[in-house]
Amino acid sequence: MLATDVATVRPATRLRGELRLPGDKSISHRALILATLAAGSSTIRGAGDGADVRSTAGVMRALGAEVERIAEDGRTVDYRISSPGAGGLTEPAGILDCGNSGTSLRLITGMLAGLPMTAILDGDASLRRRPVARIIEPLRSMGAVLHGRRHDSLPPLTVVGHSPLMAVDVTTAVPSAQVKSAILLAALQADGQTTVRERVATRDHTERMLRARGIPVGRMDDESDGVAWTLEGGLAVQAIDEQVPGDVSAAAFWLVAGSIHADAELTIRDVGVNPTRRGIIDLLRAMGADIDERPVGDAGDPDVGEPRADLTVRSADLRAIDVSPVQVAEAIDEIPVLCLAASRARGTTTIRGAGELRHKESDRIAGIADGLTAFGVRIEVDGDDLRVHGDAHLHGAPTDSLDDHRLAMTFAVAGLIASDTTTIDRPGSAAISYPGFFDDLERVRA
Ligand code: S3P
Repeated sequence: MLATDVATVRPATRLRGELRLPGDKSISHRALILATLAAGSSTIRGAGDGADVRSTAGVMRALGAEVERIAEDGRTVDYRISSPGAGGLTEPAGILDCGNSGTSLRLITGMLAGLPMTAILDGDASLRRRPVARIIEPLRSMGAVLHGRRHDSLPPLTVVGHSPLMAVDVTTAVPSAQVKSAILLAALQADGQTTVRERVATRDHTERMLRARGIPVGRMDDESDGVAWTLEGGLAVQAIDEQVPGDVSAAAFWLVAGSIHADAELTIRDVGVNPTRRGIIDLLRAMGADIDERPVGDAGDPDVGEPRADLTVRSADLRAIDVSPVQVAEAIDEIPVLCLAASRARGTTTIRGAGELRHKESDRIAGIADGLTAFGVRIEVDGDDLRVHGDAHLHGAPTDSLDDHRLAMTFAVAGLIASDTTTIDRPGSAAISYPGFFDDLERVRA
């Protein structure tokens, strides 16, 4: 990607069409990691082919799994993985490059914490700013030996396996599926039953996917929004075949585009609508969005499979809502594009407790505030809260993605409804999670 790269988006008179999205990024990472931990051959169909998932695939190869691309269509890829299993993986010869991917860095650290090898995980300049104390602390409490830069707060991260892990009972410091998943993956090698408690239930793909591979994962809900997960160490992950649903976080851009454009009807096929991921659909509906949802396929066991649906979105008059910190955690990756929806809603939308957005691929609170302000939106940041004033008439603007895929796509969608021309610096970052995004944008617009 060139630093001088610029995309131009002109207002659309109409949005129409059907879209098939890259496979869900979160599920694709986990499918690759679990296939590598399992001895034997696994097939993953419809994995997202963005740069982040490719980073995980590269690391799995470096650990000794054969990771073969057996089909691809520019957005998704089918993988065949043959692995010796957790016990047969090899110590990597070089540094494990996680690129831009926080999910790769944190989940793979958990995966390696109890394996007999030393590994160094690193990535790009953005990844080197992502906090890692949140995984180092709980993994150390299990007996893992890890070191990070700046007093163990930042990557590169060194994982010195070799020491036996103990089961623990821990509460995650922040609502984070990456932290929870790192602990659960380490717990596979630990002696005894590990309990991971979270105050707000985050995406549960790891838990569902472990169950599908023969590892029982227990769930206990508490009276508030919290949940505790239990996992018995020492069991072998089984090799299975997986079909990855379309990424609901990618669908979010079209759900917002279709809602805020005055003449829109878009159908998005085969989107994952897992209850812990569908927050954006429900928030938009609470704002008055017209989203029709038709289940597809058989989700199977409700604690194991991933429910999917075809979604159709049509233009709607949106109204402001109040988004709670729990709802923020449930739609963490969709908050930037939700701010865009809020800018076109009647009234002022408040988004409370969004501080975690500062620790993503960029500081997304600053990025979204600066970007939307450039379009003429009134948006206020008050600590970890955001207030977005609605009924804005967006005018085209020069924007900077900050090399953050979700900001690049949010600004491109804004460009579809803004008057005049919008430019986006460094739009190539969209391919981190959504290769083909700008092609889709051209295809559905008139
Ligand atoms: C992810 C969890 C979230 C999310 C990220 C993917 C995952 O991160 O923002 O895009 O796959 O577990 P946190 O766990 O840091 O909130």
